[in-house]
Amino acid sequence: PQVIAVIPAAGIGSRMQAECPKQYLSVGGNTLIEHSILALLQSGRVSQVIVALSPHDTQFSQLPIARDPRIRVVEGGAERAESVMAGLDVAGDRGWVLVHDAARPCLHPDDLNNLLAITATSKVGGILAAPVRDTMKRGEPGVAAIAHTVDRQDLWHALTPQFFPLELLKICLRRALNEGAVVTDEASAMEYCGFHPMLIPARADNIKVTRPEDLALAEFYLTRLSQ
Ligand code: CTP
Ligand code: MG
Repeated sequence: PQVIAVIPAAGIGSRMQAECPKQYLSVGGNTLIEHSILALLQSGRVSQVIVALSPHDTQFSQLPIARDPRIRVVEGGAERAESVMAGLDVAGDRGWVLVHDAARPCLHPDDLNNLLAITATSKVGGILAAPVRDTMKRGEPGVAAIAHTVDRQDLWHALTPQFFPLELLKICLRRALNEGAVVTDEASAMEYCGFHPMLIPARADNIKVTRPEDLALAEFYLTRLSQ
């Protein structure tokens, strides 16, 4: 069955320090947001992509992809979670929804397919995630000293896409936002409501372009993807 996607793209990219929001920076002839959207559409499983934009956005409508009939635009909010909520609000309440950062252009089709396949085994949903490889330290609060080493055995980096039954995610995200929970990804709203989404192991090169040096990395990974 087809699924809907929500792309939060209403951020300003302050850490990127570019002259425009980072989702409009180009790598290999396409903007980051175009790479992110195309990665979803190319699966053949996504019937609609709802893009949450800043009310001040002037760039999205200039992109060729904006004319794709599967794309719909909504106004985002002040926080990422509010942008996602705005997208979910117009998405109906049937089926499943993928949420994917506009600034995550290097999604591999195999990872997306592995995530989409969880509908067969899960009623709660799941996320792409990469196992932590570094040794992890917990610092003493307020002091540059180690309190202890954190067991990395069960530590994961949360990535996107994140994939949930649409109605369930809507209920959980709305409740988490209303109750002031810390919601840095969709899974954290599900966790807040007592659910335990699946972790789907994925490539660590599905990076979120956050700082200036990430752009060259994204370019490298995208070139490799297209070969
Ligand atoms: N995002 C959004 N609405 C917001 C804030 C962020 O839709 N109010 C989106 C961004 O556009 C991005 C994704 O959420 O695609 C991940 O957020 P982040 O990497 O933090 O992007 P920015 O908030 O734009 O960057 P920064 O935090 O450096 O300002
Ligand atoms: Mg941000």
